[in-house]
Amino acid sequence: PVALWLDCDTGHDDAFAILLSSCCPAVRVLGISTVYGNAPLGHTTYNTCAILKAIGREDVDVYAGASKPFCRSAAHAPDIHGASGLDGTTYLTAPSVPAKSDRTAIEAMYAALISQPPGTAWLVATGALTNAALLFAVHPDLVNHIAGLSVMGGAIGDGFTNAPMGTVAGEGERIGNWTPWAEFNIYCDPEAAQAVFSNEPLAAKTTLIPLDLTHQMLATREVRHALLYGGRTPSASADAPTPVRKLFQEILVFFAQTYADVFGLKDGPPLHDPLAVAACFAPEIFDDIGGERFAVSVITEGEHGVDTLVRGSSQCGRTVATMLQVGQTGVRIPRKLDSRLLWEMLDRCLSVAEKR
Ligand code: BDR
Ligand code: CA
Repeated sequence: PVALWLDCDTGHDDAFAILLSSCCPAVRVLGISTVYGNAPLGHTTYNTCAILKAIGREDVDVYAGASKPFCRSAAHAPDIHGASGLDGTTYLTAPSVPAKSDRTAIEAMYAALISQPPGTAWLVATGALTNAALLFAVHPDLVNHIAGLSVMGGAIGDGFTNAPMGTVAGEGERIGNWTPWAEFNIYCDPEAAQAVFSNEPLAAKTTLIPLDLTHQMLATREVRHALLYGGRTPSASADAPTPVRKLFQEILVFFAQTYADVFGLKDGPPLHDPLAVAACFAPEIFDDIGGERFAVSVITEGEHGVDTLVRGSSQCGRTVATMLQVGQTGVRIPRKLDSRLLWEMLDRCLSVAEKR
């Protein structure tokens, strides 16, 4: 199995990233760190521990990381994830095992990753990049040791010629989900993101999963139904959905409602975060179009509002991706994916979790 450390801000899609990291036989999760984001750090940490309890993996160590960005106020997303960061389910109970505090999240991440054989372990970030940027600043030797860094974040738009979300060419068009230009994780701590993408040896090992890609992974009504029943016949009462399947179903139903309310996206919400986990071990899901590589930079100037979805025209937090020439090293940004393969994988993870 592929060893990885997950750094997340547990909201609805992070919960699926935890499921994939902790219940997929192809993965060995080394530990999980948390960051502020979808909700304040106390909530994202609690949600992480509660999800691990629900899937029978309270043996996985959890460490609480940064509660705010380096040099800004923390943004949160109650419009999308509710005040708790994981609103909408009745199937979560209080964790029995709290987050550990014998050392800092940064030291726990470093110890876990550096103890793996060189070139084998991944760091996956599905929240703001504050913890990740701090980790590589404090421990620069880690860059050469890890297999890679996989990040859910950013919106490319025009950087791709066939971007499914369109460009910000006309009034009302947008590529971001927090501002017209910026995706939430990058927007939260643009300086941290810039530190990661401008670290050349790190960028050469980084895979970026932007909104352009995650909007190809919609949790449609059909997908939600299939996940709830896991191939069983809905009519047979003996085959009623298990609590763990009901939990993940309720998570998707809430997420679908907020995406419909806030973005008018009626087909189903994009399941962003598990894609960053899958990128470490399941290349068959992604289409890389000839191994393209990109130089990525983050705009750090401009207005930075944190209270709720920002609709202004500021470009702060925008990721600018420039395609590099063949043979140059840079960030990998797949363009297309086969969502069916990942849904099937998540379904198998639920089967593993319900037997625990
Ligand atoms: C990202 O922001 C968060 O709300 C989600 O969990 C995901 O990581 C999508 O922009
Ligand atoms: Ca997230």
